[in-house]
Amino acid sequence: MADVVKNVDSERLARILPEAIRAIHQVIESHGVTEEEWMAVLGFLTEVGKQDEFVLLSDVTKTSVLVDAISHEGETDVTPSDVEGPLYRENPPWREKPVKIYEEYEGAQKGDVLFVSGRVTSADGSPLSGAVLDIWQTGPDGGYDIWDERQPEYNFRGRFGVDEDGGYEFQTMVPKPYTIPTDGPAGRLLEASGQHPWRPAHIHFKVEAEGHELLVTQVFFPDDPYLDDDTIGAVKSSLIRPLTRHESEEESARRGLEAPFYTCEFDIALKPAMSAARA
Ligand code: BEZ
Ligand code: FE
Repeated sequence: MADVVKNVDSERLARILPEAIRAIHQVIESHGVTEEEWMAVLGFLTEVGKQDEFVLLSDVTKTSVLVDAISHEGETDVTPSDVEGPLYRENPPWREKPVKIYEEYEGAQKGDVLFVSGRVTSADGSPLSGAVLDIWQTGPDGGYDIWDERQPEYNFRGRFGVDEDGGYEFQTMVPKPYTIPTDGPAGRLLEASGQHPWRPAHIHFKVEAEGHELLVTQVFFPDDPYLDDDTIGAVKSSLIRPLTRHESEEESARRGLEAPFYTCEFDIALKPAMSAARA
């Protein structure tokens, strides 16, 4: 087979690109892929681009999970990272204390209030008082704000700072399992490969602090039916945190609530950035 890559500037690209192209050629050759089939592949990828689904495609083929695992291999004493997914929105509202990341809306009555709290520290346990958290999740009914017309803009999303000792708490609602978008090419791929589109309930976190690497992760909850069968394969057992139910009317009243609520603790340890670690 003729060389397909010549005069590549980057040494790394020069090593990877020919191998990637060879891998595609090998699959085409060994299965005798026809012109018609190849055109269908190109049509599929064109549709993925048009519908802005490349991140979703990377997720459902479990490629994102693989890259995450390789990128963070061998990290100890820090909170494990996890896939970001395609549903993060830039510039969510800044939430002042006491932090609440949602507004009441029609479907919210179907859910349970949840307070998530913890401390943000460096790998050695020292508090990071300047840390900023950025949270996004689905509501208890109807999914993400962008899919659910009843929800206000940026509902179940928000950024906020931590206390002097790195402590944080925010009020949200217990998320439920949901299906990722299935109406585009990634959904057709799932269907063609007999894979369901469900993800276990989770909350996404992006956490930043000076001198530390940005952490992108997710928190999951026990007893979820999709923990062992996440459609993007992103569950890490070290990121599962129990939900504690609080039944006392007195406790609820103290929180300004009329019904039982849940709490969940999630301490976060960030990895010092390379330059900071050397210093
Ligand atoms: C999410 O959890 O938001 C998500 C991740 C991957 C694909 C689709 C959604
Ligand atoms: Fe999500």
